[in-house]
Amino acid sequence: MSKIPSYAELAQNDAFVARHIGPNAAEVQSMLEVLGVDSVDTLIDKTVPATIRNPDPLNLAPAVTEEKVLEELKGYADRNKVYKSFIGAGYYRTITPAVIQRNILENPAWYTAYTPYQPEISQGRLEALLNFQTMVADLTGMEIANASLLDEATAAAEAMALCRRMNSKNKSMSFFVAEDCHPQTIEVVKGRAAPLDINVIVASADEAAQHDCFAVLLQYPGTFGDVRDYKDLIKQCHDKNTQVVMAADILALTLLTSPGELGADVAVGSSQRFGVPLFFGGPHAAYMATKDQFRRSLPGRLVGVSIDSNGDSAYRLALQTREQHIRRQNATSNICTAQALLAVIASMYACYHGPEGLKRIAQRVHRLACSLKEGLQAAGFGGMPEFFFDTLTVSTGDKTDAIYSAALAAEMNLRRVDNDRLGISLDETTTAEDIVTLLKVFGQDQASLDGLNLDGAASCIPASLERTSSYLEHPVFSQHHSETAMLRYLRKLADKDLALDRTMIPLGSCTMKLNATTEMMPVSWPEFCDIHPFVPLDQSEGYRDMIASLENMLCEATGYAACSLQPNAGSQGEYAGLLAIRAYHVSRGEGQRNVCLIPSSAHGTNPASAQMVGMKVVVVACDNKGNVDLNDLREKAEKHSEDLAAIMVTYPSTHGVFEEGIREVCDIIHHHGGQVYIDGANLNAMVGLCQPGKFGGDVSHLNLHKTFCIPHGGGGPGVGPVAVAEHLAPFLPGHPLLESQSKERISAVSAAPYGSAGILPISWTYMRMMGPQGLKDASRIAILNANYISKRLSEHYPILYTGTHGYVAHECIVDMRGFKDTVGVTVDDFAKRLIDFGFHAPTMSFPVPGTLMIEPTESESLEELDRFCDAMIAIREEIRAVERGEYSVENSPLRMAPHTTRDLVGEWNRPYSREQGVFPVAALPADKYWCPVGRIDNVYGDRNLICSCPSMSDYE
Ligand SMILES: Cc1ncc(COP(=O)(O)O)c(C=O)c1O
Repeated sequence: MSKIPSYAELAQNDAFVARHIGPNAAEVQSMLEVLGVDSVDTLIDKTVPATIRNPDPLNLAPAVTEEKVLEELKGYADRNKVYKSFIGAGYYRTITPAVIQRNILENPAWYTAYTPYQPEISQGRLEALLNFQTMVADLTGMEIANASLLDEATAAAEAMALCRRMNSKNKSMSFFVAEDCHPQTIEVVKGRAAPLDINVIVASADEAAQHDCFAVLLQYPGTFGDVRDYKDLIKQCHDKNTQVVMAADILALTLLTSPGELGADVAVGSSQRFGVPLFFGGPHAAYMATKDQFRRSLPGRLVGVSIDSNGDSAYRLALQTREQHIRRQNATSNICTAQALLAVIASMYACYHGPEGLKRIAQRVHRLACSLKEGLQAAGFGGMPEFFFDTLTVSTGDKTDAIYSAALAAEMNLRRVDNDRLGISLDETTTAEDIVTLLKVFGQDQASLDGLNLDGAASCIPASLERTSSYLEHPVFSQHHSETAMLRYLRKLADKDLALDRTMIPLGSCTMKLNATTEMMPVSWPEFCDIHPFVPLDQSEGYRDMIASLENMLCEATGYAACSLQPNAGSQGEYAGLLAIRAYHVSRGEGQRNVCLIPSSAHGTNPASAQMVGMKVVVVACDNKGNVDLNDLREKAEKHSEDLAAIMVTYPSTHGVFEEGIREVCDIIHHHGGQVYIDGANLNAMVGLCQPGKFGGDVSHLNLHKTFCIPHGGGGPGVGPVAVAEHLAPFLPGHPLLESQSKERISAVSAAPYGSAGILPISWTYMRMMGPQGLKDASRIAILNANYISKRLSEHYPILYTGTHGYVAHECIVDMRGFKDTVGVTVDDFAKRLIDFGFHAPTMSFPVPGTLMIEPTESESLEELDRFCDAMIAIREEIRAVERGEYSVENSPLRMAPHTTRDLVGEWNRPYSREQGVFPVAALPADKYWCPVGRIDNVYGDRNLICSCPSMSDYE
């Protein structure tokens, strides 16, 4: 009888690790042979400096299986209580249409896509985002809207910065905030204002025009429910050269006169209640809309319409020179990752319901709110707003506690405004039965309930504010109301795009790794979806424990003492980390420390964040090997010794190498009293190998949407936790609605206490399934894969930077600049030609203009790496043909790329064959990705800016 292996051998608790990591043992071996290295250990020894290596394994629990992890997570989920929340304050229950939930939120074609910087392969998501912009512009009555911001509170803060920049007629440094704005908005705005020396005045909206300020912020309807006609007030503000920002409820705008019609300069808000779950606070897409004249100052991404090489209409990101990538320390916003996936969901919700359907939902909510008010008045309650949309704040006096508890007993959450008032916000999910239960909770007697007439009450929207203008008239909002139509529309758009579910996306610095299905599943569980961010603590116990567990795992991975998951993007983590540094210096009486040293290779968000916290950016040079120039650093640190606040350094560097001098960099800064901020966006090369908190970092942000498997969603959501050493822990961000927190805390940086809590289970699940060894192996294989590509390509292209022993970290930069000089082939030509091979281009021109930065991640198999290398090498052959004069660059397959189905028909007068154009490698015909448009003309689009859905005649 043959022997059966032991149970321990067969149990395979770490089976997921092999599913996550692309190459198997044999593939690893053959890659090592190509590299001429005997083992992965040797490769790591030659790549990661011994001085920073972590000798110990990570102190994390061993890996568990995919089935087991969901069981564990269910344990947390079960400790959340899913009550009906009537808390409002910017967050409302909503119904995510099932066709949208399954085909967007749960569909990798949408959630694994990258930001649409390569527009030709992103037409589907660009169209969806253009629908979002059109929807927002229509509903707010403004001329132009962007493709989402991180949340309503940060959008309000961005609007403040926009107004300060644009209002040249009013030099005041005061910003007025109506006291009935949502509390989290007031807190975030105050926090953002302080470092910019903007004075925030919080008072009754009635006083807005009495102060000398450059802009005012009004909530519409107010947080306590009141709907006020601000037309005259806005005029008075304008007469004093004060601009007006309105934070408006998107559903209410279907019934109310729009901010644009009232005269507002900027409108901001959340689109959450358009089909996006509560998610314990996020992720949700905020919007910003404004006047056309401010378009160049609009923060965030903006989709515009242009034409392709055939003259056909095509979409792409417009006016990109506004972004911090370009503006760096002159930027007034640091936003990079936004909330694309959630904006897509909200836009599709609008397409699904159409203008009539949305109005019907809003009217139903309003009807029930009017009936509720009547019922509450009949029960003897008062203090409610005369005019409102969905929210009533009720004077409850000494009955407050009793009513609040009775509501809890009925599994309903009310908003406890103060000891004398309770708030009730209704929403799309509210039913007539809920109104009866609410009235019972307020003590209404049975006889009155029996006589309740839900159709009795009149509208409580003032006649002067009843919306008369139309909205969502573009056909896209009326063609997809049936499920069949919506299903096919979503499929049609998804099919136009390249996402990770079709191909490797080798974007350097972006870590497009596997987003495993098991990791994604909890995102749709009601116990994680349906929790309002401000529920009583006992209802979010499971969530908070899971969050604490994730914080601990991240601290262990990074070597820091504490971590906050509040920042909802890397940029916000940077901002929070720098604020913590500033607060630390101030606490030691060293508030003068305001210089931030930043190497020239830094990501654009670094200098942008530094200026947002009021720091002065001093650029440090890099040497010809791509390392921080230590002499220049010493000189600048010395020069600014008295006022040195920090250095922001990315590790491994944005040049794709583990710099040997990192400890010295940290020592120099510490010697001069500064703090070391290590940008952790590249942590995918470090987990399990070295810890920034142990080799000199004081603070880091991490991008969970890179290293820890949160998908990029076509440009968001993200999570950018900030992790700090012990001495900075008291300065981590707090939140006005959290109970116990440090007195020294910095202000909230996101609207919700735990930022984008709803997607944190993804990273938690990943870390639990990988365990300490799996996480370490992921880093090791990420480095192996990058070195394999670097080696194979090095025979055909110059690799720009390598470390001391000639190896790269987890990404490599291929230098294309020479081809531009010799034969005129640009980095754009490479990127577009790769599309013909079915690939998304690597990162273009960052950090070095004219180069491609390739990051394969650990999740790609040898076969996929080879397919990519073969494509790159085939393109090199095409350049050789240009070099030999076989065709000019203008007439080459490189410049004509991408090739579309149009190129298969009609006249063909190019010096290469159609086959070469569309099927450049033999394997392609069977699974060819057909790019839907030819090369897009960016300049044309920016000259003829159109940022809402083009008229249907354009498609004819
Ligand atoms: C090195 C680096 N730092 C910071 C960021 C900003 O992160 P986010 O886009 O999440 O704001 C990025 C994003 O690509 C990055 O690559």
